[in-house]
Amino acid sequence: MRGIRWVLHTALLCSSLSFSLPTNDGVVHEKRDGVPEHWTKISEASGDAPIDLRFALRQNNLEHAEAYMREVSHPESENFGRFWTPQKVINTFAPSAEAVSDTVQWLLRMGVQPKRIVPSAGRNWIKVRSTIAEAEKLLDTVYGVYRDDEGTTLVACESYAIPAAIRQHIDFVSPTIQFDPRTGTATERTSKREAIRSKFKAVDVGPDPLALDTCGQLTTPACLRAIYEIPDGGEAVPGNSYGIVEFAPQSYNQVDLNGFFSVYAPNVPNETAPAVNGIDGGYLSDETGSGTRGESNLDLCYAMSLVYPQNVTLYQVGDGVFSNPATNNNFLDAIDGSYCTFEGGDDPDWDAIYPHDASVPNAYTGEPMCGTYSATSVISVSYGRNEGDRPASYTARECIEYMKLGLMGVTLLFSSGDTGVAGNSGRCLLDNGAPTPVGASVSRLVSMDHLGDRQVVAYEFPPGGGFSNLFPLPDYQATAIASYYATHDPGYNASRYNNSEAVRGFPDVAVASQDFITGIDGGFQAFTGTSAAAPTPERDPSVS
Ligand SMILES: *[C@@H]1O[C@H](CO)[C@@H](O)[C@H](O)[C@H]1NC(C)=O
Ligand SMILES: *[C@@H]1O[C@H](CO)[C@@H](O)[C@H](O)[C@H]1NC(C)=O
Ligand SMILES: *[C@@H]1O[C@H](CO)[C@@H](O)[C@H](O)[C@H]1NC(C)=O
Ligand SMILES: *[C@@H]1O[C@H](CO)[C@@H](O)[C@H](O)[C@H]1NC(C)=O
Repeated sequence: MRGIRWVLHTALLCSSLSFSLPTNDGVVHEKRDGVPEHWTKISEASGDAPIDLRFALRQNNLEHAEAYMREVSHPESENFGRFWTPQKVINTFAPSAEAVSDTVQWLLRMGVQPKRIVPSAGRNWIKVRSTIAEAEKLLDTVYGVYRDDEGTTLVACESYAIPAAIRQHIDFVSPTIQFDPRTGTATERTSKREAIRSKFKAVDVGPDPLALDTCGQLTTPACLRAIYEIPDGGEAVPGNSYGIVEFAPQSYNQVDLNGFFSVYAPNVPNETAPAVNGIDGGYLSDETGSGTRGESNLDLCYAMSLVYPQNVTLYQVGDGVFSNPATNNNFLDAIDGSYCTFEGGDDPDWDAIYPHDASVPNAYTGEPMCGTYSATSVISVSYGRNEGDRPASYTARECIEYMKLGLMGVTLLFSSGDTGVAGNSGRCLLDNGAPTPVGASVSRLVSMDHLGDRQVVAYEFPPGGGFSNLFPLPDYQATAIASYYATHDPGYNASRYNNSEAVRGFPDVAVASQDFITGIDGGFQAFTGTSAAAPTPERDPSVS
């Protein structure tokens, strides 16, 4: 009680002094190495424009997260398989009461009225309804209006500061140095389609589609079964399902799946369909062509034929408006109620903020989904982003959320990308050596470079793989990384990548990814890319 009264007293005292705001006395908390490519500052932001600042508070016990994870996931651990309840996850990582009160008291001392300070239900975000002028004083920064080549504008800054005593409680503040516009632009949708289309090519169906002697040229479920010794699916286990995530506008077509099963997976009955969990307006589109159907058809052709008769659950994410493919927070919200309620909500710079305006076709006009569906035990996602696309703080936070799902027994698999170590922007560190890293932002990554250990093939694309600049070396990789450096010279120095030998290597798992025959538009095409590896349920032959 005394604490609360003291806070209010301070508030009154300070708000009456708000003409001469105390100075921030801050230490730089986050800083960009320049304005990102394609963006230009066009003006200062207007001081009286409103801005909602969001302070992401640091969570407790994260330093133990890897050990917790090992405890439940290492086969030799006593607690192997004893996954955590959501409540245990929440309690373990909640920010300290001190983090909340210190931050609130600092805001009050800076003259922010109490009614404008809104802590989230889970206590780990604090929102402040503010103005640009006030935000500039709070964060000792200057906001500008920036425009990209396509004319999208946003308000951002290039660095900001927080007092030393408060910094320890804060992961990051937004909107600040983040530059991704809120929604995928039309161009982004088009380029995603083009990228997928370019990975398909026409194929001729051989006389015996189930034969194994052509596995070196074309990959089929029969080939994968043989190479990875994947057993048949046995009996359907009630409640067991394999999760596949697709983001709008990608969308599968049942007729194509039927055609694929009938030729390449006769074990799967005609019309076998995934259970569709539409997230935030997720819909099955009737657009045709490999650019729109390719990714979803590919993922489902292989996931469904290799696990049948186990069920497959399709998490179809996003409505007709929003398409920022690697924006996984809307997906996470829908399968994990603790993420959207306790974990504090999405970032309007990257995540779709619903409801959307009904005037756009297939717009989702409902509330964002939150804990609407349960997560299947294994989930594959063939979409990703470069590690350097977003600030390190956001990326780290997202990774922590995947870790929490891991503690609850959920395995997530992500493709590592098809454009090599430099990612899809084609570069490693910035030319000035600044740490703009590449890679991918998520917890477990899958790529390919060989067909099992039987037959090494020349592949036609550079699968994503290399070293993170953000994530330290996990101990389960220590031996492999040490042996890599002992026997390979990557041939580049620290000006190109983080060669400290103390960072995480990726991917974790390599699986075939070349020329996967896929049902498209009533026929078949072959797809090459790590999108093919992610949904392939590989089996570790050392585990019986
Ligand atoms: C598979 O999913 C369907 C719903 O899509 C459900 O009716 C069926 O019971 C599930 N099968 C098992 C074995 O859980
Ligand atoms: C699958 O079932 C549909 C609907 O009954 C039918 O039109 C189609 O011909 C069947 N396809 C195959 C390959 O059997
Ligand atoms: C390399 O990665 C480590 C671990 O994330 C980090 O501490 C270090 O600052 C990075 N080096 C550079 C030059 O960015
Ligand atoms: C790294 O290698 C490049 C040539 O590939 C060279 O120009 C540069 O000076 C080297 N930088 C360092 C720090 O050794």
